[in-house]
Amino acid sequence: MPQTSTTAAVTAVGKYLPPDRLTNADLEQMVDTSDEWIRTRTGIEERRILKDPTKATSDMCVEAARECLSKAGVAPDEVDCILVATVTPDMVFPATACLVQDKLGAAGAWGYDISAACSGFLYALTTGAKMIESGLHKKVLVIGADTMTRIMDYTDRTICVLFGDGAGAVLLEPTTDGTGVLDTVQYVDGSGVSALNQLGGGSLHPATRETVDARMHFARQDGKTVFKRAVVGMADAAAEIMERNSLGPDDIRYLVPHQANLRIIDATARRMGVGEDKVMVNIARYGNTTAATLPLCLSDWEADLRSGDNLVLAAFGGGFTWGASWLKWSYDSAV
Ligand code: ACO
Repeated sequence: MPQTSTTAAVTAVGKYLPPDRLTNADLEQMVDTSDEWIRTRTGIEERRILKDPTKATSDMCVEAARECLSKAGVAPDEVDCILVATVTPDMVFPATACLVQDKLGAAGAWGYDISAACSGFLYALTTGAKMIESGLHKKVLVIGADTMTRIMDYTDRTICVLFGDGAGAVLLEPTTDGTGVLDTVQYVDGSGVSALNQLGGGSLHPATRETVDARMHFARQDGKTVFKRAVVGMADAAAEIMERNSLGPDDIRYLVPHQANLRIIDATARRMGVGEDKVMVNIARYGNTTAATLPLCLSDWEADLRSGDNLVLAAFGGGFTWGASWLKWSYDSAV
């Protein structure tokens, strides 16, 4: 009998989107912008906003995780590890994963946060997959979640129109049927720090009256530089994962791209040679939810996915961080 290796299958997905919407029309009232500018430059029409001041990223994670586990028929105390990808943790420490473990009642789980901005979910998926492949764990919850509206400067039109709030979760479990996370490429270029960052609140610039006055606790970016690097990085990574696995455009069921800008998504799809019918795009409704974009796409398209479908996940974000993964889908959805 040939030896079949163990891989990490995605066995369920879940999502949470806060109910309140922040539309382009709302933003027109807040900064000097227009619905037309936002739509044509980014593809965004509205995004969700977590308005309740008593709630934060961990609460969205818990909602997404509950949906995911309930679909899988897995109790919280069966989960071995919780990985939370986020750049908007509830607090500097403890990690959001710890708060999620407690709120979820995942009594047997350990976990930690992964900070890789918009590539966070992809990085966490790789980490979780390796835990499964190594035999260390049987059930790993991988969550991507960000409450970006809490770090937006709503006087800065160059960034505040782009981001929204949300969370998505997947459950990873071992399989030997040839599906699951099959390959991944990941990169970092830390010289990107000046182009996309939130400078205040860390050990370099701890919170002071001055850092607050200088608006250093908000995210800032040089949009043009990020755009140029993202177009190349996401497309290169997606092409690399296809080439090294001999995947042609006809082999791909869906490109699952990070949702930062429709033009970046289109460039990636063109480079892969796949038509728009094979690209998951929900940026119009949610904007850029940072670590949540990929699991939100998987969740939105779950009903359409079939066992054996080849998906290419691709992301680019602050760091710079970027990469792509080949995920062979593992189940036919009952929803
Ligand atoms: N409304 C109206 N006008 C605006 C707005 C706005 N919201 N924002 C900028 N402008 C103006 C600019 O001031 C500029 O005016 P000027 O010509 O008079 O100076 C003009 O529009 C063009 O600005 P550009 O920056 O050249 O616009 P561009 O076409 O590059 O689009 C955008 C800007 C959408 C931000 C684009 O650069 C982009 O998507 N970049 C990537 C951003 C991104 O993906 N960030 C997230 C990365 S992922 C992560 O890790 C968080």
